[in-house]
Amino acid sequence: MIVLGIETSCDDTSAALFDGQSLISNVISTQLVHRSFGGVVPELASRNHIQLVLPVIKQALNQGGISRKDLQGIAVTYGPGLAGSLLVGLSVAKGMALSLGIPFIGINHLDGHVWANLLDNPRIKVPFVVLIVSGGHTQIVLVKDWGVYKVLGKTRDDAAGEAFDKVGKLLKVGYPGGPAIEKLALEGDPTYIRFPRAFIETGSLDFSFSGLKTSVLNHIRAIGSQNTQSRRCDIAACFQEAVIDVLVEKTVNAAKQVGVHQICLAGGVAVNKALQERMTQRGREENLKVRWPSPGLCMDNGGMIARAGHHYLQQKMSSPLSLSPVPSLNF
Ligand code: KG4
Ligand code: ZN
Repeated sequence: MIVLGIETSCDDTSAALFDGQSLISNVISTQLVHRSFGGVVPELASRNHIQLVLPVIKQALNQGGISRKDLQGIAVTYGPGLAGSLLVGLSVAKGMALSLGIPFIGINHLDGHVWANLLDNPRIKVPFVVLIVSGGHTQIVLVKDWGVYKVLGKTRDDAAGEAFDKVGKLLKVGYPGGPAIEKLALEGDPTYIRFPRAFIETGSLDFSFSGLKTSVLNHIRAIGSQNTQSRRCDIAACFQEAVIDVLVEKTVNAAKQVGVHQICLAGGVAVNKALQERMTQRGREENLKVRWPSPGLCMDNGGMIARAGHHYLQQKMSSPLSLSPVPSLNF
């Protein structure tokens, strides 16, 4: 069964093909138009998806050497995400499924991020704990079985990626802030200043990152713009250290609390090498195996949607053509 996966929930337009064994293509077009605005502009995102979605699907089919007629199902993200952006992918998926006479299924974007792990690590066995960490989400989820999830903790305010992006703005490194901060941090002194870690109540697996962002802002105001410029690497290193400390300790605690021996990472922030290394090191100390997908499968991509959709379609599940976008969809 060859399934086309379509992802248009935010600022990446992506289409991919999964044949039950592996991804035969995974085309991702990241909309660069938002960079000059310092963040994603919803109206521009949906307009760009309209322009990009058909060429991206065509490219995915061409790369896989597959004709539309070979498709046996279509999977598409229907939430969470930007309403207008979701609508573009969903409308195209419905139209194609109707004209080809094949089933289509709406996929929860967060579910897709979980499945991305299986594409790169087919040996992963349930149950495990996954840290989904991106620009829009930060949550720890227990995967009891594929598609059977329990949210153990989530952010009460900003997502970790959002904090990277906001601090990136304060340090004037452009959008998105995550990759630039990781690069600056390599040259910085992580002991320059200790920013607060929000562990909230003892035992809670929830996160909070807005206080950390405010502490960075207050520090920058206190030392002035010239000193900020010369201390950019140190501030980046100390901020990143504070985020990673909390992400790692909470995820390790979650795995211990529920008694699983594997941790997976998912989402754009999971690309961060310092996070991967620290989670691996703490995992080793606690006898936990830590895995993450390759960078192209951590960020938003159609491959993870095709993978999830293939599983559900094989179980004879599908969505009605009346399915609407659900911007605030959760587990
Ligand atoms: O999963 P994703 O592509 O889109 C969302 O669903 O949000 O994640 C994008 C987020 C952005 O906030 C970006 O700054 C962050 O992932 N990110 C990183 C890194 N690469 C991307 N954060 C920290 N370190 C990185 N290397
Ligand atoms: Zn995402």
